Amino acid sequence: MTILRLLVIALIISLGLLAILILNRPGITIRSDQPAPEMAEAVPIGGPFSLVTHEGQPVTDADFRGKYMLIYFGYTYCPDVCPMELAKITRALDILEERSIPLTRLQPLFITVDPERDTVEQMALYVSLFHPTLLGLTGTPEQVKQATDAYRVYSQKSGDIESNAYLMDHASMVLLMGPEGQFVDFFSSRETAEDIAITLVDLLE
Ligand code: NI
Repeated sequence: MTILRLLVIALIISLGLLAILILNRPGITIRSDQPAPEMAEAVPIGGPFSLVTHEGQPVTDADFRGKYMLIYFGYTYCPDVCPMELAKITRALDILEERSIPLTRLQPLFITVDPERDTVEQMALYVSLFHPTLLGLTGTPEQVKQATDAYRVYSQKSGDIESNAYLMDHASMVLLMGPEGQFVDFFSSRETAEDIAITLVDLLE
């Protein structure tokens, strides 16, 4: 074997290694593995609603423009999950106040999925148990359905549905909407009051 042949073989091997290195560059592989950002925004959460506050005032989503909305859908007769989640929201707001974060650009909302039993009076009694800025919203069954549809919240009667002691199966998550009414984030039951507070501090400071 001549020196020339050895050099040619070495050159071919080097070019092969270089090609492998270029094709495996992180930039190329990451781009092909990740979904396009537009995909995540394909299903919009949120939209118009027209409801009544626990003080009897009619409101629409447009009344809250310029503020972040922290929304929880549930019902006042809920035996467990709703009071826990509303207590968590209350704790998150307490943490913000302890850190002197102004809450003027934040509106926490509790929207009922049970308009039959959650009258204005019932909502007023219930929200008084939680943070003073929490606004309870109810309405006609049609108004509530418009809201749950817009925010993609599943709910359905269960248990003893013939009596007045029925339960409501419902999705449980805290939704964070932006000042233009756009979806920003959500918090599942696994996330703590501190998790919610940390997210809000960055937005409200
Ligand atoms: Ni509940």
